[in-house]
Amino acid sequence: MSLTAAKTVHNAWPGLIEAYRPFLPVSATTPVVTLHEGNTPLIPVPAIAAEIGRQVQVFVKYDGLNPTGSFKDRGMTMAISKAKEAGAKAVICASTGNTSAAAAAYARRGGLRAFVLIPEGYVALGKLAQALVYGAEVMAIKGNFDQALEIVRQMSETYPVTLVNSVNPYRLEGQKTSAFEIVDALGNAPDWLCIPMGNAGNITAYWMGFCQYHEQDRCDRLPRMMGFQAAGAAPIVAGHIFPQPETLATAIRIGNPANWERAIAVKDASQGQFHAVTDAEILAAYRMLASQEGIFCEPASAASVAGLLKVKEQVPTGATIVCVLTGNGLKDPEIAMQQQGGQFHQGILPELETVAKVMGF
Ligand code: F0G
Repeated sequence: MSLTAAKTVHNAWPGLIEAYRPFLPVSATTPVVTLHEGNTPLIPVPAIAAEIGRQVQVFVKYDGLNPTGSFKDRGMTMAISKAKEAGAKAVICASTGNTSAAAAAYARRGGLRAFVLIPEGYVALGKLAQALVYGAEVMAIKGNFDQALEIVRQMSETYPVTLVNSVNPYRLEGQKTSAFEIVDALGNAPDWLCIPMGNAGNITAYWMGFCQYHEQDRCDRLPRMMGFQAAGAAPIVAGHIFPQPETLATAIRIGNPANWERAIAVKDASQGQFHAVTDAEILAAYRMLASQEGIFCEPASAASVAGLLKVKEQVPTGATIVCVLTGNGLKDPEIAMQQQGGQFHQGILPELETVAKVMGF
């Protein structure tokens, strides 16, 4: 039997640095550390569009399908590649969970040590498990994210460790590629981009991406940037620091965001709006995405959809809207178990008739 070359039915995705190389600050000699992140699906969500009640198109950018389950992989492929290029041997970050998982995965893949500081007791189980299994050195502090970020900032100034939080400019360079993908998929920028805000790096990165594509005539408009914070951790919306931020969306439990001013600039430049959504609104959107659209995201991500529904009266007829789903639902199995709709029947005898009866037959 002779082997014939298989016909290529599609080109394998090379990871976002190779895909968008001309738009990124990399050179031929940059060592690319990649897990082939990016190229995540833009999925129509008709049940959410129907809630708005007018002729609108709503999509979610499901960035929870990245290699470590969140959008942080986009930033980390760039940050770790550039750290390695500069000769770094170790990286450090503060994290509510996802950054630590991504930093750990990419650092280890690139042969660097990863140190992560997390707020003890406030990181979802899946994220903590990831950081540990990828081989990061995890330090849980008796404090919140903002305090952890302050320590790692100072640490990177004093010791030979590279900071890979979103104050590292390469993080945003990588994350902006999600805006490129949205325009590549839609053929233009959406009318609105709805996005959760924590440290406000991602909203800044998306705006950079849309503006860069616009300058290069890849889209002929720019979206209104609609940013949403959890009501218990809404410093940018309220205009003051939250010394003790609280929300069950632990990913965005941040009281003093590092990219605060930049987020305000994005809002102003895009004629956008920022609003707070309550935990109850976040959970309602989370359940709706899972049970009506078949899309399982983590609670912080559902803030983008909760926010859209909150301001649905303002959506123009005919609008195209993209909500960013930043992280995978599997990250936080504890919240998922609390939120499941009561359809979990336990202790059933292993008999056909009994099972049929439970099923209502
Ligand atoms: N959604 C998820 C799932 C996140 O993990 C984060 C931030 C955000 C949204 C907010 O993005 O900070 O760029 O505004 N997580 C960081 C972390 C803080 O440590 O993983 P942002």
